[in-house]
Amino acid sequence: MEEQLNSVFASYQGEKSELIPVLQDVQEELGYLPEEAIREVARFVRLPEAKVFGVATFYARFHLHPRGEHIIRLCCGTACHVRGASKVADRVKDVLSVGVGETTEDMKFTYEEVACIGACGLAPVMTIDDKTFGKLDPDKTEKTIKKFGEDSSEGGEA
Ligand code: FES
Repeated sequence: MEEQLNSVFASYQGEKSELIPVLQDVQEELGYLPEEAIREVARFVRLPEAKVFGVATFYARFHLHPRGEHIIRLCCGTACHVRGASKVADRVKDVLSVGVGETTEDMKFTYEEVACIGACGLAPVMTIDDKTFGKLDPDKTEKTIKKFGEDSSEGGEA
């Protein structure tokens, strides 16, 4: 990890104002922000560790735990909720044995719940990476996830 951190730090001056871009680059390099990396970043930009941890946990774009190969985001906005998103959510959690924000043991999927993604006409909707799947019901969702796990090159349905 040290080598990767040093290669990120090499493009910065170690100024407090560089905190966010440094965290972003470190996350890109490591895939997430392990505690040790956050401590090193704090040292580098000369800020208290607590402050850097605070920033890393505040912004949704930063991840303090390793993430799966594929990111499932289920919309829990109003339109999706009304059309049964919570039943879909239950099935996803069941099939993958994860809670919200968790990653499967095989590191294949991370499950997240998000606010409206602007595809309400297709409610309930989820995305897996950059593919959108709409008009879901629990069975269709299970099939989609299983198929995606077997062959992630399968196309999404808009
Ligand atoms: S509420 Fe789900 S896409 Fe808008």
